Amino acid sequence: MRFDVVTIFPEYLEPLSVSLVGKARARGQLDIRVHDLRRWTHDRHHTVDDTPYGGGPGMVMKPEPWGEALDAIIAPGSAATADGEAAPEQPTLIVPTPSGRPFTQALAVELSTRPWLVFTPARYEGIDRRVIDEYRERPEVHEVHELSIGDYVLAGGEAAVLVMAEAIARLLPGVLGNAASHQDDSFAPGEMAHLLEGPVYTKPPQWRGRGIPEVLLSGHHGRIARWRRDEAFRRTTRNRPELIEQADPEEFDQHDRKILAELGWDVSEATGRFGRPTPDVEE
Ligand code: ADE
Repeated sequence: MRFDVVTIFPEYLEPLSVSLVGKARARGQLDIRVHDLRRWTHDRHHTVDDTPYGGGPGMVMKPEPWGEALDAIIAPGSAATADGEAAPEQPTLIVPTPSGRPFTQALAVELSTRPWLVFTPARYEGIDRRVIDEYRERPEVHEVHELSIGDYVLAGGEAAVLVMAEAIARLLPGVLGNAASHQDDSFAPGEMAHLLEGPVYTKPPQWRGRGIPEVLLSGHHGRIARWRRDEAFRRTTRNRPELIEQADPEEFDQHDRKILAELGWDVSEATGRFGRPTPDVEE
């Protein structure tokens, strides 16, 4: 899989050489190319921004350097690998922005199947809109995704690229030590889609007077799986109740329903979905 990142702070992407992603890169499984946007400027000051039309605070990234950079990167033939092997695949553009659609685990799974992602992290108030409009219409571009990693505003998109690149790369076959370990990730599509992972424990069996739940020592896989699922329900109802509310109750078995009932949750007649307990109101 290939990642290109175009940025005015190439050094910001250095963590992509560390840990699991760095190792996948060293093995040749991931081809990550970081480009300095200023390479595609032509003035003495390497200007990448200008004042916004219509006025207002802040600066906007100029379209010309982005256009030249993206043209050069996605040009036919630029996907060729070092050994000359052509990779005539279509790139998917990822534009990190707080006004994008939410980046989710489901999207990470989908994007991990693409051969080539091109990230365009912006600084200032963002990139001139025409750049996104232009590449959305380009036949050689597979898709353009404007994505947000959360409801907060970063100083630039680079940290969002690190987040998305890691979430995607760890899903590639062989990148995680244990292939099964992303199957029960929180948010992973499948049985745990609407549940957060519960607590985990390791040795020693006693630490500062604290033991571990007996069931984990029982060696009984069925009971352990059930306990983990119950804990996932406890944690999800507490930390992310909306995930349970959005879930189709068909996904919940008898035991799940019992746990939800114990936690005060009930199926709402109006929605047919589970709804959180209404707080006791003092008369
Ligand atoms: N750039 C600035 N804030 C961002 C966010 N929350 N997600 C993605 N890109 C961003």
